[in-house]
Amino acid sequence: MGGATLQLDYASVLSTAVGPAHGLAPAEIQRARPAAVELVRRIERERKTGLHRYRDLPADREMVRAVQAAVRRFRPGTENLVILGIGGSALGNIALQTALNPPLHNLLAGRRRRGPRLFVMDNVDPLQFGDLLDLLGPALNRTRFNVISKSGETAETAAQFLIVRGLLRRRLGTRALSRHLVVTTDPESGTLRELADREGWHTLPVPAGVGGRFSVLSAVGLFSAAMCGIHIERLLAGAAAMSRRAAGTALGRNPAALLALLLYMFYTRGKRMHVLFPYAYPLKDLADWYRQLWAESLGKQQDLEGQPTVIGPTPIRALGTTDQHSQVQLYREGPNDKLFIFLEVEKFARDVKIPRVGGTPAALQYLEGASLGRLLSAEKRATELALVASQRPCLTIRFPRITEETVGQFIMLWEAATSIMGRLLNINAYDQPAVQLGKDYTYALLGKPGYEQQARRLAGRTGKSSRYTV
Ligand code: PA5
Repeated sequence: MGGATLQLDYASVLSTAVGPAHGLAPAEIQRARPAAVELVRRIERERKTGLHRYRDLPADREMVRAVQAAVRRFRPGTENLVILGIGGSALGNIALQTALNPPLHNLLAGRRRRGPRLFVMDNVDPLQFGDLLDLLGPALNRTRFNVISKSGETAETAAQFLIVRGLLRRRLGTRALSRHLVVTTDPESGTLRELADREGWHTLPVPAGVGGRFSVLSAVGLFSAAMCGIHIERLLAGAAAMSRRAAGTALGRNPAALLALLLYMFYTRGKRMHVLFPYAYPLKDLADWYRQLWAESLGKQQDLEGQPTVIGPTPIRALGTTDQHSQVQLYREGPNDKLFIFLEVEKFARDVKIPRVGGTPAALQYLEGASLGRLLSAEKRATELALVASQRPCLTIRFPRITEETVGQFIMLWEAATSIMGRLLNINAYDQPAVQLGKDYTYALLGKPGYEQQARRLAGRTGKSSRYTV
């Protein structure tokens, strides 16, 4: 792969680098290739029957037109955009913003920002939410809210929405709601859909067959990105390019299949923790997004034949160089049960020189004339080599630069790898039954109609236990 394409470098997972006990011999990878290639073929056949719908998002022109129309309508006069959503309805929005807008976007003066300030509220912490509303209160007229919920039922998002609806009504009047709310939800069903249609609010669809954690390249992630000046066409072009690669049956040119295969091979060899370790601050929230994608998709207790199983790699995120000073002691000397996936950037969008000024102590002079970018790159390489010296296998995903195109590639790389990994593990990567029970219990505890039986079952099990509290 050359040009502005991501590269997957796997030299440091080989037995020649980390030894035969912890590395893979090239011949082993060679032997495992046919299984991965067969899965790629199968997934491509299944796509024609309507499965793996997220792969079609980069080509969905209707969706792009709908997003652009919404941006034309809501962007003028908008100073603040607030996302109300959680999980797959928030993590992608945060990741795109951190990756593709300046780190201090929200603090820049209006003209220097590419769009409104963005606040993604993916929690119901009362202090955090209350403080945000206080902050935005004086500018409510110049604030838009994008409520995102595929199901239209999630308690956290519903609660935030009710608070905001109340505030808007009180402060600006009921008729103002349609100027301030954009609702992104299932195109046909759900409470939010019914309400938005009844009230005539602007809606955007979460396409059918696309689950929350696979939805960042739909209106879910694209609306806030485009509002904030991110070039969504380029993002989708990058994703489309990676989707084409992910369909290829030559593994040497299909990074998604190779990534899934390597992670699977290490999983079966006891390296069940997969640490994503970006060495670039803009990529840090993509690691958070990956954490949800990998965990919710692959942690399952039933295989595809309905038989009980206990399966799932544990995704971990770290940030270079910050976590060198908090995690690397464990990573090098603790249990050798992890695979490290570094994210490296060849050319940073800007660099900061370390000046030569007189009087620098001899011990610090090696830094003079270098730059922060060079230091960060050297620290990545040094950490990888130190891990390799401790027989810890390391992959590197290399970004030539962080751009809309490469971020789009990265997103599709992991989504496609997740589908293949799901098949290698023989589980359904697209459901999340274990998350539902907690949602149902919340409904039961708060008295939602239809959950009376669960409420009775939970009665007496939720109070504080004096016997076991010290
Ligand atoms: O990936 C998923 O499906 C979940 O993380 C959901 O996105 C999350 O639970 C929020 O659901 P909803 O969009 O229905 O409110």
